[in-house]
Amino acid sequence: MSQNTSSAVMQQRHEAHDSLDFFPTPPWATRALCACLAEADPALKGKRAWDPACGTGDMVRPLSEFFELAYGSDVHPYGAGAVRDFLLHGDEPVFDWIITNPPFRLAEEFAEKMIGLARCGAAILVRTAFLEGVGRHSKLFSRRPPQTILQFVERVPMHRGRLVENGSTATAYCWIVWLCRPHKPVPADRTAFAWIPPCRRILERPGDYALVAA
Ligand SMILES: C[S@@+](CC[C@H](N)C(=O)[O-])C[C@H]1O[C@@H](n2cnc3c(N)ncnc32)[C@H](O)[C@@H]1O
Repeated sequence: MSQNTSSAVMQQRHEAHDSLDFFPTPPWATRALCACLAEADPALKGKRAWDPACGTGDMVRPLSEFFELAYGSDVHPYGAGAVRDFLLHGDEPVFDWIITNPPFRLAEEFAEKMIGLARCGAAILVRTAFLEGVGRHSKLFSRRPPQTILQFVERVPMHRGRLVENGSTATAYCWIVWLCRPHKPVPADRTAFAWIPPCRRILERPGDYALVAA
């Protein structure tokens, strides 16, 4: 019997242990988060955001449309931001929001550190399957309950190493959002859930995939 390796079946990223897990985010998916944040906070445009795992800057560019300033850094010198290992301690810059699509195998560590550093809030884009797991619940979600989970209704196609305009995926993604100081911690049973309705068509912009074509 042949093995079914279609993208509809292969929902898991199989990454080498030392992989940087570079899967750039289609800009519309970042705009979808920012539209939700801007609706909740009319003062968002005066705030500053940091993508601490920015890759080639595909999240920083849409962040700059919604924030006063968007800054990017990454452990690898892709040429789109500062070079720094986010998980090393010392001399971290101060930002209102810290937002990223973290390397999958380090997502928990990223979330912990983002929540601890951000002045207003932190948000990570993850596979929806990240929400399950007894260990992760015990270590992260029960101790730091998110304020909101925003589940994409549409699929967010992500491919290793490059943006793909007409890509496809069988993997579901969501944003997990934590509000930090000065908000009161969210009780464990009070995390809100909302769908991100279909929005790709209206949130894509000319030039979003220009670097792909170049
Ligand atoms: C899934 S990609 C996301 C890239 C970008 N944020 C985006 O959404 O397009 C994960 C990124 O994490 C970076 N990375 C991996 N380990 C890191 C670390 N310890 N500190 C900072 N960046 C790291 C990788 O180089 C890669 O660019």
